[in-house]
Amino acid sequence: MIADIVVGLQHGDEAKGKVTHHLCSEGDYTHVLRFNGGGNAGHTIYHDGQRFVTHYIPAGVFYGIKSIIGNGCVLNPQHFFEELQELNNAGIDTSLIKIAKNCHIITNDHLEEDGKDQEIGTTKKGTGPAYRNKYNRTGLRAKDALELKPFLIDLYEEFFNNEDDVRVLCEGAQGFELDIDWGDYPYVTSSHCTSASALLNSIPAHAVRNVWGVGKVYDTYVGKKHFEPDDKVFEKIRDIGEEYGATTGRPRQCDWLDVDRLIKSININGITHLVLNKVDVLEKLNRFAVYDSQKIHNFDDCDDMCAYIMGRLDDDGDLLQDLKEIYFSGNKNNIN
Ligand code: IMP
Ligand code: MG
Repeated sequence: MIADIVVGLQHGDEAKGKVTHHLCSEGDYTHVLRFNGGGNAGHTIYHDGQRFVTHYIPAGVFYGIKSIIGNGCVLNPQHFFEELQELNNAGIDTSLIKIAKNCHIITNDHLEEDGKDQEIGTTKKGTGPAYRNKYNRTGLRAKDALELKPFLIDLYEEFFNNEDDVRVLCEGAQGFELDIDWGDYPYVTSSHCTSASALLNSIPAHAVRNVWGVGKVYDTYVGKKHFEPDDKVFEKIRDIGEEYGATTGRPRQCDWLDVDRLIKSININGITHLVLNKVDVLEKLNRFAVYDSQKIHNFDDCDDMCAYIMGRLDDDGDLLQDLKEIYFSGNKNNIN
């Protein structure tokens, strides 16, 4: 068994969907597995010239690869069926979509409760309350929902009693800075967003081959805390970068990339392949800056900024050596 993992290195919305889509088209995967989160995630995917926003269904569905919503996720059946319908209407083959039978269910009560949130600025999809009930041992699971029966699988059977070789692409939702333990609690989501989280879905540690870490050359955050510094440049980044939530349409607060935090995120996730997206946005603005040791460093051009980031990765022990591939990407559809 081989597993590659894709995770977000910041506050979600790093264009992970683009990377998984690219890997699905290149890699030889038998399964794509969503391993955390719920309908709070919004993956924007450009496929055959069409724009899709998915919340639950993994990107493998666009390539006829078995696509699984894992037991680390929480799922609202009604929203799942709506998404299925949208894909069907667009002519996408949805027959390979599966749900782990021990994945937890988001109920209407969860939705209603989350809808009243004032403190965190959640996406109001019921994610937090569903995880709370899971850990309180009072939740419902996919196998308890009759309408989901045709989709259910047992992940152990699927991966370990499979006659064929299994090669799984594990698709993470949100990002390191929203992780329930490593993020800025309580301004976090209710699941684990690191590569370790993938392993909880019947993925043995020794199967892991590559861990793709996806970030942006600047940072964004959606939620209640104050994040964006008082500088007009961030309004421009928001406009040019189209930084509005795929799930809620909310404007994302913007800030420069923090190199120390990026390194922490790369280390904890064990990243082997690094993609920093949206270089083109800063190029259009002709403003390049990062935080390092809490100070802003400005650069004349993109090459200077990228060289600085590379230098800092190099300073940090063996980090650069462990990174097999690094992309500074300014392309909407491709990582090059
Ligand atoms: P929840 O996950 O809906 O409970 O929201 C908790 C926090 O995580 C809020 O600040 C949300 O805006 C943020 N969040 C959750 N999912 C995503 C995502 O997919 N992208 C960006 N932010 C997210
Ligand atoms: Mg998103």
